[in-house]
Amino acid sequence: MIPRSDCRRNKGWVDVAVKKQDRPWGGRFGEPTDREVVAFTASIHFDRRLYRHDIEGSLAHARMLARQGIITLGEAKKIRAGLKAILTEIERGDFVFTPEDEDIHMAIEKALIARIGEAGGKLHTGRSRNDQVALDIRLYLREEIVRTLELVGSLKAALLNRAKGEIGRIMPGYTHLQKAQPVLLSHYFLAFWEMLARDEGRLRDCLKRVNVMPLGSAALAGTSLPLDRSYVARLLRFPVVTKNSMDSVSDRDFIAEYLFAAAATMMHMSRFCEDLILWSTDEFGYVEIADAFTTGSSIMPQKKNPDVAELIRGKTGRVYGNLLAIMTILKGLPMTYNRDLQEDKEPLFDTVDTLQSSLAILAAMVGRLTFREERMERGAEGGFSTATDLAEYLVLKGVPFREAHGVVGRLVARCIREGKALTELTLEAFQGFHSAFDADVMERLTVRQSVNARKTMGGTAEDGVRSRIAEIEGSK
Ligand code: ARG
Repeated sequence: MIPRSDCRRNKGWVDVAVKKQDRPWGGRFGEPTDREVVAFTASIHFDRRLYRHDIEGSLAHARMLARQGIITLGEAKKIRAGLKAILTEIERGDFVFTPEDEDIHMAIEKALIARIGEAGGKLHTGRSRNDQVALDIRLYLREEIVRTLELVGSLKAALLNRAKGEIGRIMPGYTHLQKAQPVLLSHYFLAFWEMLARDEGRLRDCLKRVNVMPLGSAALAGTSLPLDRSYVARLLRFPVVTKNSMDSVSDRDFIAEYLFAAAATMMHMSRFCEDLILWSTDEFGYVEIADAFTTGSSIMPQKKNPDVAELIRGKTGRVYGNLLAIMTILKGLPMTYNRDLQEDKEPLFDTVDTLQSSLAILAAMVGRLTFREERMERGAEGGFSTATDLAEYLVLKGVPFREAHGVVGRLVARCIREGKALTELTLEAFQGFHSAFDADVMERLTVRQSVNARKTMGGTAEDGVRSRIAEIEGSK
């Protein structure tokens, strides 16, 4: 029940008894907070991650307060120096975090007051932790989205690189995990490139809604003090400010959006990993993952396991869980701020970490895959994968598609009975099934011909794949 054990692992953590007067809001309370309650309500063991953003927001707030004449320039200067010193102290690892501080906002404010005295007590003027935390998360997430975008970009680049390097290589394309039609391995890589490009689009779109400045909403209703919200926004490089104070302190759908964009990105990586896991089996044998990206078994000496790919697949489940957590946390909240909202951070932080590490490791692993060209091409030849080409051949000779489908179906059934491939049938045998078959039918049966015939826009023909690569490279 108590997250204290987590806190204790953190550097600079001390567990101390809480005295009534230690709590900034202790004024109206007749007894100290119960120890269990202190531990239970504290978020500092995870929201200390926001220290830099909290200080950045406070610096801007203090500057604005002075500009508006709410505090003096001298007080603002003291606040600034104090906050900078605290920042350095935290970054050096010298700052002592305790559960009595409850959260990062109070920890920093308390340290500031201890350091600079009365002026420190003026920092929270016209501000509530409700709008402060909303600001901190937005500052944090804005940065992390940019970082996530960079990592998605690296994975896309790795996929594009493979698509270029493997051009011409043929693999079996599957539907229902049954061999369907031959495709280019490059086409396969570019399919994931397209998925990630959409993920990128979702992240960029989400960034627009994250990049809105909520400070000045105070607890929920705004404040009677003459704050200049636009000035704070300018200082913090936000293009706009939020338009409704009640919405500002209770809105977390920008987090839900990020968590969805993250879940979709993980889902795409997970699907790619699933293919790698299958393809690296002895049964498929299409790919070899570099030793550096695999692990062994503690008992079976021969084993080389695709654990990285499996973990990305597994972690995707966790990221989905985080999305569901935030959606559930938000669904029943009465307006406006409720402490439930403190529960937004762990799913968010966990998703940011999981997504970013998965993206980075997968991008590196993509560069360390060795494809077994021969085996893939042989795989593509099996399973009567050119049967559709044969049906389309008949269509071009004027046979209705449904009839052609039936003819080729019977042809395939015969091959199965006789244990033959389509390429092993004679022209006479083909003509026995339909008079429209001519000598040129034999050319339609190779996998390369099949691939290159698929010239529709977005199809797997080599020309099409090459022009998509050129298009992608041209747009960079
Ligand atoms: N730690 C809190 C959170 O993460 C900060 C806001 C607390 N506000 C309050 N009224 N208790 O949401």
